[in-house]
Amino acid sequence: MRLDVITLFPDYLAPLELSLIGKARREGLVDLHVYDLREWTHDRHRTVDDTPLGGGAGMVMKPEPWAEAFAAVREAGQAQLGEQAEPLIVFPNPAGELFAQATAQEWSSRQWIIFACGRYEGIDERVYEHLADAGCEVALASLGDYVLNGGEVAVLAITEAVVRLIPGVVGNAESLVEESHSEGLLEYPLYTRPARWEDPRGVVREAPAILLSGDHGRIAAWRREQAISRTRERRPDLLEPGHAES
Ligand code: ADE
Repeated sequence: MRLDVITLFPDYLAPLELSLIGKARREGLVDLHVYDLREWTHDRHRTVDDTPLGGGAGMVMKPEPWAEAFAAVREAGQAQLGEQAEPLIVFPNPAGELFAQATAQEWSSRQWIIFACGRYEGIDERVYEHLADAGCEVALASLGDYVLNGGEVAVLAITEAVVRLIPGVVGNAESLVEESHSEGLLEYPLYTRPARWEDPRGVVREAPAILLSGDHGRIAAWRREQAISRTRERRPDLLEPGHAES
């Protein structure tokens, strides 16, 4: 999978060199390129923003550097992947569609994603119109109902959620099947040894006996009940009819 990130803060993406994603990059499963949007400015101050037309607080990202950046990155990607390759362009944005496990699943089979990190109040609306008119596939993705300072943290989260689903990235593929959200439920509670643990306050805490029974059928049924009751308690919205299951 090829991933391109266009940002004003390339250093923000440094964690993508670590851990599973760093390993996936070294093994050639992920080819990640980070670009500074200011490469596509032409004035002495490398200006990327201006005041909002019509007035209002804050600054808006200018359209010209973005249009040039997309053209250059698209060309670089097509030089590598072939002229017919087209990216999915993702704008992290609190006004976008909620990014969920189903989205991660879908995007994990993409050949090429370009992430465009907005800052300030946002990006000039004509950038989206321009991309749509040019036939590009564009997605606005929100991490949740809160506002970050820019798209970079969202790109870290989205990249991690997507890349770990690429076959070969997570060693034990079964752990992907059983985890939270993989069936639209939260994960059941987990225990390990010692089965009988005395906590620092002297309270003895036993793991549920069923987990020591060796009866895999009953264990699976117990875990499913736990997942359902935990989901009902913490995230009843996931159990509502019509909630998208991944
Ligand atoms: N940029 C700012 N806030 C965001 C959010 N909640 N999700 C994705 N991108 C963002």
